[in-house]
Amino acid sequence: MIRRCTEGDFDTIYTIINDAATAYKGVIPADRWHEPYMSKEELRREIDAGVIFWGYAENGELVGVMGIQNVQDVTLFRHAYVRTAMRNRGIGGKLLSFLYGQTSRPVLIGTWAVADWAIRFYENHGFRLVSADEKNRLLRKYWSIPERQTEMSAVLADQKWWKRSRR
Ligand SMILES: CC(C)(COP(=O)(O)OP(=O)(O)OC[C@H]1O[C@@H](n2cnc3c(N)ncnc32)[C@H](O)[C@@H]1OP(=O)(O)O)[C@@H](O)C(=O)NCCC(=O)NCCS
Repeated sequence: MIRRCTEGDFDTIYTIINDAATAYKGVIPADRWHEPYMSKEELRREIDAGVIFWGYAENGELVGVMGIQNVQDVTLFRHAYVRTAMRNRGIGGKLLSFLYGQTSRPVLIGTWAVADWAIRFYENHGFRLVSADEKNRLLRKYWSIPERQTEMSAVLADQKWWKRSRR
């Protein structure tokens, strides 16, 4: 039920992201919200930059996606989206666990600081929020996002990262 997305899934990934991202409307700062939330050009740039999407399919149809990207010495989980109508059924959790098994590197996840549901979701899967100073450092080091997005984001790290950061 979890499979690596192919070029043929591009339009479906785009649709799922923009359907699920409506959760941000009215929550993230107005200057960061636009429709569609992610354009096809931006999605293409992300894939070209090395984000590999995996998808959860039900009855042959993708209903959730999550991206994985190796950057320098860490792995980032990027763009986690489950169709609005299919939320809270364990699909995101299955995708997250699956992706986690795909890497032995420390894993970092960035999300909007105000997306408390996403932060709770990752915390329930063992990730922990890093401090404000650390998240700014990490976002600038590993992500290519505008400074304004850095300000408004939170970063969660897995146990491997915490262990390494204590060394
Ligand atoms: C964040 C997101 C990807 C999670 O996907 P999901 O499929 O809803 O995730 P799950 O169903 O595994 O888990 C969500 C909650 O449902 C609960 N749940 C899981 N299976 C359940 C079931 N069978 N019945 C009822 N609740 C269930 C879980 O306990 C979980 O609670 P938690 O978030 O407090 O840990 C999804 O909500 C989404 O797309 N949100 C909008 C976009 C977004 O915020 N993306 C994150 C970007 S970084």
